[in-house]
Formats: sequence, C-alpha cells, structure tokens
Amino acid sequence: MFENKIALITGVSRETGLGYETAKRLKELRLTVIITARDIETVNTLGKKLNVDAAQLDVTSQESIDKLVASIIKQYGKLDVLINNAGAFFDQDNDVLTVNLDFMKDALDLNLFGALRMIQSFFPLLKLADYGTIVNVTSGIGSFSDPIFGLENYHADVPAFAISKLALNGLTVKLAKRLKEDQIKINAVCPGFVATTPGLEAYGARPVIEGADGIVWAATLPKDGPTGGFFRDREVIGW
Ligand SMILES: NC(=O)c1ccc[n+]([C@@H]2O[C@H](COP(=O)([O-])OP(=O)(O)OC[C@H]3O[C@@H](n4cnc5c(N)ncnc54)[C@H](OP(=O)(O)O)[C@@H]3O)[C@@H](O)[C@H]2O)c1
Repeated sequence: MFENKIALITGVSRETGLGYETAKRLKELRLTVIITARDIETVNTLGKKLNVDAAQLDVTSQESIDKLVASIIKQYGKLDVLINNAGAFFDQDNDVLTVNLDFMKDALDLNLFGALRMIQSFFPLLKLADYGTIVNVTSGIGSFSDPIFGLENYHADVPAFAISKLALNGLTVKLAKRLKEDQIKINAVCPGFVATTPGLEAYGARPVIEGADGIVWAATLPKDGPTGGFFRDREVIGW
C-alpha cells in the first residue's frame, strides 16, 4: 500500500528518539525512508541499523536544506511524506520573565522556522506526490487545551519551548489552508510525554513506541484523511 511512498524525517540522531522509532515503523510499512540529522556519522550509523537511507541535515541552515533538496530530486524525483521531528530547547530552568531573548530566538529558529524552511523548500517536491503529507511534531505544552502541560496550566517555566511549539501549531493551521489547493495535508501531532531519555519513565513518561504511533498514523493518512488538525494518539485534541 505504501510501497511507492518516499518519507523524510528530520532530527534522527538517537536510537531512543521519536524520529528513530518513526523511521523503523514506516520502514516496516514498506515506505522508502530517509532519515536525517546534523551529524553525518551518527545518522549513517542509524541508517545502516534501520536499513534506510541517511543524509546530513541542519534545519536551521538553508544551505544544508538546499543540498538535501537537490539530492532528493536526483535520487527520488518527489517527496510524499515530510516529518518535521527536529526540535529542542526544552528550557525547564528558564523563567518567562527573565528568559534570554537570543536563546528564545534560537528556539524559534529550530522549532518554528526549521519546519517552515523545510516546508517551503520541499513544497515543489511534495506537489509532485499523488498527495503530499506533512507532520509537524509539536507538543501539548504549546496548547491551551492540555489540562496539565498546557500554556495556562503548566508552571511559568519552559517559555522558549512552549512558545515555539504554540507558534508551530499556528503555522500548521495557516499552512493547511494554503496547501489544500495543492492536495498536501499537514497536521500537528503531540506524542505525549515520552521516555526518549532513559529514566523518564519514573516521572510518568510513556514508551517511545506509543508516542511514535500518532506520528506514523499522521504520516500514512489516506488521501481523504484530515488536514489542519492537532492530534495525540490518533485523536483530535484542542489547540
Ligand atoms: N520526548 C517528549 O516527551 C516529547 C514531547 C512532546 C514533543 N516532543 C517533540 O518530539 C520531537 C523529537 O524529540 P525527542 O524527544 O525524540 O528527542 P530527540 O531524540 O533529541 O530528537 C530531537 C532531534 O532534533 C535534532 N536537532 C536539534 N537541532 C537540530 C537542527 N538544527 N537540525 C536538525 N536536527 C536538529 C536533534 O539532533 P542533535 O542530536 O544533532 O541535537 C535530535 O535528533 C521534538 O520535536 C520534540 O520537541 C517530544
């Protein structure tokens, strides 16, 4: 069913990360998977482990993205699925009143503009697919709806991460409207609180396989599947 689909995932540098698990699952579903990360040696090693293609990519560098676009055009000629998984700056020690603005800009540069750069750059290739699919990996921390981690409920720290994911959610909505005319769907997916770092289970984090499931689902939606939504565990959640 997915044999002819090409899927690209950003931010795959750790075996315990959501990107790695997502790549593994998509490969099992028979998609052609390309994993990417900033460090070429690391991503090559992971690519060999998964038996998928691997490439260097820094989503904060337009030059790095342009190189990848050129190589995907040459090798595959199109892109069906783009998963914007790269993300960081979980600034639990920061206070919103004193957060360093340069730090905050860096968080936005990765978590928000990284995804937008990728979408703008891969748009022509996604247009060549039967229908393109984009997944933005975001977080309930950047939402109003999450009863524990949401903007109005979680304590005042994590400002850079929360605001950057809020902005990524907004970007998803804005792009969904624009991309409809090109048959490209785009959704935001929160994986929940996931044990991507060993030991987090003790604080209530769920297994990586559970967090990745919603990402895989959104990456393999049918042509008439939803767009412009915010999901966790395959279910709609509030912005
Ligand atoms: N784990 C959770 O509980 C949770 C909850 C909600 C949302 N999320 C989101 O899920 C996604 C994956 O996170 P994870 O928990 O699986 O952690 P992770 O394994 O650390 O994944 C984050 C990835 O982003 C990469 N990255 C950082 N800067 C980059 C750049 N400039 N260009 C390209 N890649 C870059 C990191 O690579 P380097 O090794 O090079 O830094 C890493 O591979 C993130 O967007 C995160 O915000 C996670």
